[in-house]
Amino acid sequence: MTVIPTIDHVDALAAEYADKSPREILELALHQEGEIAISFSGAEDVVLIDIASRIGKPFRVFSLDTGRLHAETYQFIETVRKHYNITIEICFPESAAVQQFVNEKGLFSFFEDGHQECCGIRKVQPLRKKLATLDGWITGQRKDQSPTRSDVPVVQADVGFSGEGKQLIKYNPLANWSSADVWSYIRMMEIPYNPLHERGFISIGCEPCTRPVLPNQHEREGRWWWEEATHKECGLHAGNLKK
Ligand code: ADX
Ligand code: SF4
Repeated sequence: MTVIPTIDHVDALAAEYADKSPREILELALHQEGEIAISFSGAEDVVLIDIASRIGKPFRVFSLDTGRLHAETYQFIETVRKHYNITIEICFPESAAVQQFVNEKGLFSFFEDGHQECCGIRKVQPLRKKLATLDGWITGQRKDQSPTRSDVPVVQADVGFSGEGKQLIKYNPLANWSSADVWSYIRMMEIPYNPLHERGFISIGCEPCTRPVLPNQHEREGRWWWEEATHKECGLHAGNLKK
């Protein structure tokens, strides 16, 4: 089975796969022709790597190292690399851009004027560079993660990052899973997880912009908590905000 989704039939595929399992959606993605990779943040999206490793087809993984991740997350990325015996392609921001930005505005400007500029330099530009080399990417986005993600389909045309003449496909195999589903899987399969989850962190991003949440607080309240909930996309998934 080799599937080459085009913009014309992505919506049909999304409808066909809407109720399928994460494994079936990952299988579809890994059978796409061209270069495709899992985008791994170093958090609970490790389940994507675990499921992919059971499919038996080679797969690629990349992580965006913003330079501001928790020490635990760096250690976890290394644990995952060794556990699955995979290469994790680490993507760094442009050093000149980071240097100019922090020299001008300091190391914590996002608390004053919002996270978009820093995320733009440390995450979005490196992602754009990586995606320019790929035909598709696989993310751990879920509908229950954020008000901005409530309509995330299992497969979509990535309008934001598609280049001239190339249609990038974005797969979200966990879109329909809840946080509880993800954690049942992690525990049942006894797969490694980021130790920050043992300390009240649910959604994990960069260290200065992530905090643990209290019981019954929504996981997104632990990210960019000084900003409005409906705008909490750093740019990796900015397409979610257009609705
Ligand atoms: S974010 O846009 O708000 O930071 P979130 O942390 O919810 O995203 O993660 C959703 C998905 O985005 C992850 O499962 C992963 O696919 C991708 N992602 C987020 N951060 C990174 C990162 N640093 N490196 C690679 N992928 C990432
Ligand atoms: Fe910068 Fe915070 Fe965005 Fe990380 S999450 S890139 S530290 S603004």
